[in-house]
Amino acid sequence: MSLIIPDVLTAAEVTESRRLLQAAEWTDGRVTAGHQGAHVKNNTQLPEGSVAGRTVGEIIVNALRKNALFMSAALPLHVLPPMFNRYATNQTFGSHIDGAVRTLPNGQRIRTDLSCTLFLSAPDEYDGGELVIESVGEPKRIKLPAGHMILYQSDSVHHVAPVTRGVRLGSFFWLQSMIRDNAQRSLLFDMDVALQRLGAKQPTDPSIIQLTGVYHNLLRQWVDL
Ligand code: NI
Repeated sequence: MSLIIPDVLTAAEVTESRRLLQAAEWTDGRVTAGHQGAHVKNNTQLPEGSVAGRTVGEIIVNALRKNALFMSAALPLHVLPPMFNRYATNQTFGSHIDGAVRTLPNGQRIRTDLSCTLFLSAPDEYDGGELVIESVGEPKRIKLPAGHMILYQSDSVHHVAPVTRGVRLGSFFWLQSMIRDNAQRSLLFDMDVALQRLGAKQPTDPSIIQLTGVYHNLLRQWVDL
């Protein structure tokens, strides 16, 4: 499953994030690629200790905490600090799969269940540069307005199409979900969406309480903390 989360950042937050990132120092993106990724990765990114990166990362993580769609779809347990990349003209990141385990700054290891790409450049600022998710059926080509984010399974092979004009600025990061299994997480999300819709239409129907109970009891069965 992949899902677009619109308006994670407001226009003002996008502007502020871009201002901070543009003043920062960027390095070769290959430093954080595994041996598989290093051959196909051609971009620049912010070093992991970057102050600008940490500041904008906090803006993103705080925005996500308040985002009901994200919380419901991802059921996050740990969110890795957001990282940032920049693709100038002719830069690209060829087909690869993200590493299964990453380490938090405090040394704790987390499993990457879901990958996130948050767009910080407007689509008309560059040509190419789509995130292409290759794994399931027809490849999905994703290019979103600045401030929007795509959430997708970390087990998907994907690439970033070459940028042929302009600059594509974005944030990428991973999370470990409370629900490890993609199909189970997807069922819970569908149920939550339906319950909220039903609750808005018939807030006093006692079946809503019963179904909410089923949601939580399924979560209790499957949760992985
Ligand atoms: Ni990737």
